[in-house]
Amino acid sequence: MSLVLDPAAQDLLFREARTANTFTDEPVTDEQVQAIYDLVKYGPTAFNQSPLRITLVRSPEARERLVNLMAEGNQPKTAKAPLVAILSADNEFHEELPQLFPHFPAAKDAFFSERPVREQAALVNATLQAGYFIMGVRAAGLAAGPMTGFDFAGVQKEFLDADHTPLMVINIGKPGDDAWFPRSPRLELDQVITTV
Ligand SMILES: Cc1cc2nc3c(=O)[nH]c(=O)nc-3n(C[C@H](O)[C@H](O)[C@H](O)COP(=O)(O)O)c2cc1C
Repeated sequence: MSLVLDPAAQDLLFREARTANTFTDEPVTDEQVQAIYDLVKYGPTAFNQSPLRITLVRSPEARERLVNLMAEGNQPKTAKAPLVAILSADNEFHEELPQLFPHFPAAKDAFFSERPVREQAALVNATLQAGYFIMGVRAAGLAAGPMTGFDFAGVQKEFLDADHTPLMVINIGKPGDDAWFPRSPRLELDQVITTV
């Protein structure tokens, strides 16, 4: 009784949600993507900097180029997923800070004038947002298949630019036949939590 979230929602988001390796042909629509984004955009980031950027790979030509950059074991599922998204970190996120952090617009220059500082912040905060995005996909009744097994330099060159660092590629859709690997164990609380 410690959780206030409805048990069915707990299952949908966590206990029964799995990383999908196969998908049905059912398309993932732009309306679904909009609904997912409208939910996950509220996930917190430092200074509300919101550095996650999402590239939807919709055209068959772009899909083929991406599949060729995936690790071999990731290629078949990336070729077949109804929707594939490239998640990246915008290292120039500070340009949007006056809009995103209006009560302290000077934060842009006071904290983020140096590129290495921005790269570090963008990596941490966009990765956080990638986690929110996966949960949002699940909230839409879809399954996500996040992957870091790909040619990062190749994906950046083919799909992004020097200001955007690839984080992960995510297959999205309704799970198909034999979609799951066996559920792997998780660490117990006492392996993770130290109280001081
Ligand atoms: C950031 C990230 C990268 C991953 N990269 C790959 C990958 O390249 N290939 C793959 O088959 N699975 C990949 N996975 C899937 C994980 O192995 C899987 O999510 C984890 O074992 C939990 O599986 P479950 O959700 O079915 O319990 C990745 C997952 C995450 C979150």
